[in-house]
Amino acid sequence: FLVEKGNFRHFMAKEMHEQPEVVAHTLAHYIDMANETVQLPADLPFDFARLERVSIAACGTAYYAGIIAKYWFERYARLPVEIDVASEFRYREAPLPENGLMVVISQSGETADTLASLRYARAEGQHVMAVVNVPTSTIAREADVVMPTLAGPEIGVASTKAFTCQLATLAAVAVAAGRARGVLSAEDERALVHALVEVPRLMNEALKLGPETETLSRSFSRVRDVLYLGRGTSYPLALEGALKLKEISYIHAEGYAAGELKHGPIALIDENMPVVVIAPHDSVFDKTMSNMQEVAARGGRIVLITDKTGAEQASLETEATLVLPDMDPAIAPLVYAIPVQLLAYHTAVQMGTDVDQPRNLAKSVTVE
Ligand code: G6P
Repeated sequence: FLVEKGNFRHFMAKEMHEQPEVVAHTLAHYIDMANETVQLPADLPFDFARLERVSIAACGTAYYAGIIAKYWFERYARLPVEIDVASEFRYREAPLPENGLMVVISQSGETADTLASLRYARAEGQHVMAVVNVPTSTIAREADVVMPTLAGPEIGVASTKAFTCQLATLAAVAVAAGRARGVLSAEDERALVHALVEVPRLMNEALKLGPETETLSRSFSRVRDVLYLGRGTSYPLALEGALKLKEISYIHAEGYAAGELKHGPIALIDENMPVVVIAPHDSVFDKTMSNMQEVAARGGRIVLITDKTGAEQASLETEATLVLPDMDPAIAPLVYAIPVQLLAYHTAVQMGTDVDQPRNLAKSVTVE
């Protein structure tokens, strides 16, 4: 069916702006608002309490959603998680535990490597859960359980709303697992549900950073390389930020765990390469700030993405600071995704690339 751009110049812009709505829609599917609990299908073919391990395989942006989910499953459900890109997972001959859950994540539900990972896991006796956006897809059909993301059709090749809907879904699954495993009390669950319900409002606030990211994009469009840094769940978001930028603007970008800065990328710091530091005011904020200090001491150009409290506490000069409202760190990746997307988008527009159809890329990679 026909999907139109409406008043937006590109599908990517439209899809970024749809996020508060589609994430709310996705959350409503998994959350019982009246009881402030997460509600997964009652007939799950496995018991979270008895799982040995979760394995996750996916490609591209869906893979980064998976890394964020790993942090959540470990923290909120004390569930060990291994994650790999599907193109590695499918050939590694990884031994999988007897009571293991395989989670595959895919917007299209047709990515060849992700599908092959699902089939490998199934042959190895895993329970298979698919987080997919296309309910009629092959991956959805072949999984034991489907957790739909209700993002609606995504046309822009660079994934935006599918990513945040994957995060919303995976957060709900992690909370359900935490409750089933006796890690989260009813009160903990309620607090996390509260935090999740706030996400659409916070996303609307984040979208107001459009003009600021547009201004910043003027200097970004003149650089050759950009480094993205983050710790904790901001680390996979740094990877996603770098991916988004290189996909659509063709500027070389790398995402790094902030703590790895001194193990290599610090050698690249000079006055030409912007360093985007993603640092909500969470339990690892101070650590990230000391990495930022290391960048500043070498004359690096810093773009800090943080919250109100973080901006007050960061005592360094930055080229720009993008400030979000304070929020529960549990849900920060969903909201921080937006400035990261906006920055890539405006930079690409500035460079005049084909934002929705970047060269050499396909929306869905159904061949190896
Ligand atoms: C392609 C797309 C990406 C996407 C990846 C995985 O590379 O350009 O945006 O993240 O495939 O696709 P999937 O449909 O499995 O999520």
